[in-house]
Order: sequence, then C-alpha cells, then structure tokens
Amino acid sequence: MTDEPRATREDPGPLLARTAELATEYLRGVPERHLLVHQDVASLRAALVTALPEEGEDPIEIIERLARDADPGIVSSAGPRYFGYVIGGSVPASVAADWLTSTWDQNAGLYSASPAASVVEEAVGAWLIDLLGLPAGTSYGLVSGCQMAHFTCLAAARHAVLEDAGWDVEASGLVGAPEIDVVLGGEAHSTVGGALQYLGLGRDRVHTAAADGQGRMRLDALEATLDAIPAGRPLIVCLQAGNVNTGSFDPIGPMIELVRRRPGAWVHIDGAFGAWARVSPLTAYLLDGADGADSWATDAHKWLNVPYDSGLAFVAHPRAHAAAMAPPHAAYLEYVGDEKRDELYWVPEFSRRARGFAMYAALRSLGRTGVREMVERGCWVARRIADRIEAAPGATVLNDVVLNQVLVRFETDDRDPAASDALTRATLQAIQDEGTIWLSATTWHDMAAIRVSVSNWGTGAEEAELAAATILAAADRVRARGMPAG
Ligand SMILES: Cc1ncc(COP(=O)(O)O)c(C=O)c1O
Repeated sequence: MTDEPRATREDPGPLLARTAELATEYLRGVPERHLLVHQDVASLRAALVTALPEEGEDPIEIIERLARDADPGIVSSAGPRYFGYVIGGSVPASVAADWLTSTWDQNAGLYSASPAASVVEEAVGAWLIDLLGLPAGTSYGLVSGCQMAHFTCLAAARHAVLEDAGWDVEASGLVGAPEIDVVLGGEAHSTVGGALQYLGLGRDRVHTAAADGQGRMRLDALEATLDAIPAGRPLIVCLQAGNVNTGSFDPIGPMIELVRRRPGAWVHIDGAFGAWARVSPLTAYLLDGADGADSWATDAHKWLNVPYDSGLAFVAHPRAHAAAMAPPHAAYLEYVGDEKRDELYWVPEFSRRARGFAMYAALRSLGRTGVREMVERGCWVARRIADRIEAAPGATVLNDVVLNQVLVRFETDDRDPAASDALTRATLQAIQDEGTIWLSATTWHDMAAIRVSVSNWGTGAEEAELAAATILAAADRVRARGMPAG
C-alpha cells in the first residue's frame, strides 16, 4: 500500500451550532406543542427506515432531516402538559450537561478513564444521601433507571442473605444454593418482579402480602406472611414508597420494625418517584423509618427532571453492594483502590455513560430549595386537579391523593360498572385525540381509570386548571354524543 490512510477531521462547529439551534427551537416550543401520539407507523417507517447508504452523507443534512422526519413521532413528554406514566422532563441545566456528556464521551467505568466523571458521581452521591435522608456511609450506583436500581439492590441483598447462609453466590451461582424467600406487597411494581427474574430468584416464587384499597401492603398481611416462613431462612422483603397508580406508601417504619425481628433479613424499598417525598416537610412523614432499610431504588429521570436514562441504587452495606456488582478483575484495567471511585464496582455495567454530569447540573441548578419546591408543586398540582374533578358531577377520584398521582373515573348515572368503564375509556380516548394534555389508562381494582401523574418541573397552577378542564370537557363531550358501546 503506497498511500497511508489518513483520518479526516472536519470542524464540528457548524454541525453542533445547527444542532443547538434545532434543539433550542424544540425546547422553546415544547410547552406549547401538541401532545398527540403519532399512530401512523407506516409514515414514520417510510420517512426513517431507508436503505443503509453506501456512502456517508453530510452530517448537517442528516441532523436536519432527522429532526424533520422524527418530529411526528416525538412525544412532547418533556413539556409541562404531559401527565402520562411517570415521566419527568429535564431542567435546562441538566439538558446542557447531558450535551456536554456526549461531547466529552467519557467512559465512566473507571477513575482512570475519566477522573472528572468519577468525582462528580461522588458529589452527586453525597448530596443525594443527604437530601433523601439515607444513613451516612451508604453506597450508591448511578444506573439507567429504577429497573436496574432494583437489580443492583436486590443483587446486593442476594449476596448478603446467602453469605449469612455460608454461600458465595457470585462465585458459585444459584445452583445448589440455599433457598431465598422473597416477600412483596400485592401492588409491587412490575420492575421488582423483573429484577427477581433477572437475578434467578424467580418473579413468581415470591410470597405476596395483600395490599389495602390504596395499594399499601397491609401490616397484618406482612406479619402473617413472615410467620409462615420458617425462621432462619434467607429472607428479602420489598417495600414500596409510591404506588404507580395511587402514589400510596407502605407503612414503612412499622414494617421495617417487623422484619427486624428476623435477624439477617434484608429490606429493600422501591421509591422510584416516592423517595423524593423525603425532601419536603409536607410529605416526609410518608417515609418515616425508611432510613432503617438496607437498600433503596429511585429515579432521577422522573421527579428530579434529569434526561433519560438516569436511576439510582443506594445500599446501606457497601461491602455487599460491591461484592454483588464488581466484575472479576481484568489484567489490562487500571484500578484505583479505595481512595477513589471506580464506578464499575457499584453498577451492573462495565463501559458506561457518565450519568453523573446531568444529575450534578440538575441538583446545582435547583438547590435543596428548588428540589423541595418542585416536589411540593407537583403535589399541589395533583391535589388541585383532584379537587376540580371531585367537584364535578359523575366524576370520582379513586385514590387518596397523598403525593403526585390522581386516579380519575367517570360514572354513568346508573353507576353501571361496565358502562362507567366504557365512559372512562372513551373520555381518555377523547383527551388523547385532542392533544392538549396527555394521560394514560389503568385498571384499578377492576375499574377502568385515567391516571394523572405530575412530575414535570414546568407544571404549575395554570397546567393544573387546564388539565382538570380538559378532562371534564372530554367527559362532557363523550356524554353528549351518547355512550360508546361497552
Ligand atoms: C414505583 C415504580 N417502581 C419502578 C418503576 C420503574 O422505573 P424505571 O422505568 O425507571 O425503570 C416505576 C416506573 O414508573 C415505578 O413507578
């Protein structure tokens, strides 16, 4: 070969400047943007799924075309009128830090690959342990979401309870291991089952303690469940802080006291969004006693309003945490030991995105006061929407609104369950077809319901009034045009 290959290095400036323009235009427009979810997959495919080009294309054209062609399929979930699932937006500083994260393109697995990413995680970890009222010395891992936070925490739990039983699960696996009993509430989130599935603990091999009408695990049911498990067996109990439908909290303090009668048992808390209740004196009572748990899972991409993907695992026993997560040592890696943080000790990833930067910027831009105000605003909005709905004839709120979730149902005059289900579903469809706000459906205790979930930093009183008016007007329209067939 005569010609030596040379990499071409073009100035990225024009491309990034154009991208910043497009992103800025989107973010400025998102509060007013419609919330219709594009249903025509054929047109999206026609625009986006092309043959792989033989030759590379011009980057600015690619980005302009992507912004144009993806737009119909982009859901305005970053905006303040989105109340679907439990999806937060992103505070501007965290979006900007996330851009920098991609720009720097750090591999945040090892200190040696990015000292800054490692130290920023230390700052974020310390701030959050303080903010969420967790015990000093708690270890933490920044993961992709609450699903992986459960995985991380329950892997630490699996390590600890089997170590007590004389079994090294990381080295020997589960074949031949002592059995582990896992207790869940009847309304545990599906991702807890997902984590048990991935960990070989079996998502159906669990003891389920019944929940009450709000979705809280009942204390007497937990006691009876524990009584039925022979003493001395490895035991993990999963509690919930914030039910995805009702926002309700298990009675955490008394439950932890109960479990503590079983030496060596591990208590895990799912606080995907509910953990943030701790930051306000108005809602902190919901988490009384939570600092007595062994592990906690939460999200930053929900109520902290950090871009996807961003979750957090906290473990009160750093040794168990690291034992469960750290992969076998590899000769080619430069580890730093205990004085500095190699992130791969704490997460089920090796190479990974430097998620800490976006959290760092969100926390600095909000401050302790800003986080508290954001959570309190979300709770206020949920309460206001619930009040407006409850005041309207034929409309009910199915849950006690203790946090940021509201469950709405419409009843027909004869209160026929099937007809009321149909009215509720048709109302939701009318709301989704209109696109002023976006809400999602659920079934609560065999009743169709509409979920209103408030977790966007930009949602305030104006959006609360708009949401309530939109919901009630949609129900009126459905009633006026005659009931849909069940
Ligand atoms: C209570 C609860 N746990 C876990 C999850 C899963 O979180 P993620 O989607 O971040 O994995 C959710 C999501 O809404 C949730 O509400």
